[in-house]
Amino acid sequence: MHTVTCIAPVNIALIKYWGKRNEELILPINDSISMTLNANEMCAKTTISSWETFKANRMWLNGEEVTFEENARLMRCLDGVRRLAVANGALKVPLNWKVHIASRNNFPTAAGLASSAAGYACLVYTLARLYGIPINEELTAVARQGSGSACRSLYGGFVRWHSGVLDDGSDSVAKQVVSPDHWPNMHILILVVNDARKKTPSTKGMQRAVTTSALIQHRAKVVVPRRTEELTEAIQLRDFNSFAEITMKDSNQFHAIALDTYPPCVYMNDVSHSIVNFVHAYNEAVGSLQAAYTFDAGPNACLYVLEENVPQLLAAIQLAFPNDLVPSVEYLRGIQVPNFGSQNEKLPSKLSDADFLEKRSKNVLKYIIHTKIGNGPSQLSDDNSLLVDGLPVSSL
Ligand code: DP6
Repeated sequence: MHTVTCIAPVNIALIKYWGKRNEELILPINDSISMTLNANEMCAKTTISSWETFKANRMWLNGEEVTFEENARLMRCLDGVRRLAVANGALKVPLNWKVHIASRNNFPTAAGLASSAAGYACLVYTLARLYGIPINEELTAVARQGSGSACRSLYGGFVRWHSGVLDDGSDSVAKQVVSPDHWPNMHILILVVNDARKKTPSTKGMQRAVTTSALIQHRAKVVVPRRTEELTEAIQLRDFNSFAEITMKDSNQFHAIALDTYPPCVYMNDVSHSIVNFVHAYNEAVGSLQAAYTFDAGPNACLYVLEENVPQLLAAIQLAFPNDLVPSVEYLRGIQVPNFGSQNEKLPSKLSDADFLEKRSKNVLKYIIHTKIGNGPSQLSDDNSLLVDGLPVSSL
C-alpha cells in the first residue's frame, strides 16, 4: 500500500475572486491576490492511501464519510492529477488502483474560514506527492477545479491567480508574487464574530452576482486590473500604507457587489461594520494606516498588521470590543502576545475619545486567531497518517 500525508495552508484574498466565466472549469472573471497563512495555526491535513485491493474511491472529511465518486469537483481533481501523472510518465503508483482519502481541518469549519481552499489544495498536493509529479502551475489549474481559491494555497507568501483568457483554462493558474521571507513581519488577526445567520455559499453568491449585478463587470474589467498592479507593487516595496488602502477598498467593493446582487447577499453584520469603523478610527488615532481589514463571504474580519504593531492593536481591540475571556488562550489563539489583557500597552490618547469607543456590547467577538504569513503545503512523515490500513484513525 502506498500512503502519503500532507498539510496545506489557508489563504485570505486581498483582491477578491468573485464571479466565474466558466462554472464547470472554475474560470474567474478577474485576477485575485492573496496571502498564505502559517499552517501552524490553521491548515488542512490529508492522508491518501492507494492499494490494489481497494474496491472504491472513498473519502472521510473530519471523520465522516462523504460521497466521492458522485462529487464532480473531487473527481475532477483526482482525474486531473492522474492525467498529469500520465503526461509526466510518473508510474510510482498504478493509476487504476483506487484511493482512500482522510482529511481534517485543524480549525473550526463552523467559523466560516476558507476551509475549502486549504482542503482542495491539500487534496491535490497530496495526490501529486502520491503519484510523484512536480508541484507547478499546471497543478494549480487542477486545484482550481476543486475550489477556485484553492489554487492560491499551493504556494506560500503572496500569490496571484491569473484569470487567463483561454477557453480550456490552461492559462488560469496561480503564481507566487513573493515568498514569505520577503515580508516576514506580516501578521494577521482573525476576529471571529458570533453569527447565526445562514449565508449564501460563495459558489451560489458569485453566480447570482454575475447574472444580476450591474457593477460587477466594471469591477472585473476596470477596477481589478489596476488594483492588482498597484497591490503587487505595494507588496514588492513592502509599502504597508498602500497595501492597507487597496486591501480595505477591495473588501468594500466586493461587499458592494454582493449588495448589488439581486436578491442581495449580505455577508457582513453589525459587528463587522463596527470593526470597519474601529479600524478607520484606530488608523486615524495612530496617524497612519497600521491595520487593514478584509472580509470574505461571512462576518469575520481578517486584520492585516505588522508584527511590531500587534500588541497595540490588540489592546485597542480589547478597549473597543471588551471580552470577559481575556486573557485566556481560548480567546487569543495562535501566536501568543506577552502581557495581552494586562493594560500595559500604551495607547495613543486619541484612542480613548468617545467617538472611537462607540457604544458596543460586551463579548461580541467569539475569539481571535493570531497568525502570520506562511509557506505552501508540505509532506509529513508517516507517523502523522490519518489512515491505518486504509481506514481512518478515529482518535485523531
Ligand atoms: C470571497 O473559492 O470558495 O473567499 O470557486 O465556487 O469554490 P468556488 O468559490 P471559493 O470562493 C472564494 C471567494 C472569496 C474570495 C477569494 O478567496 O478570493
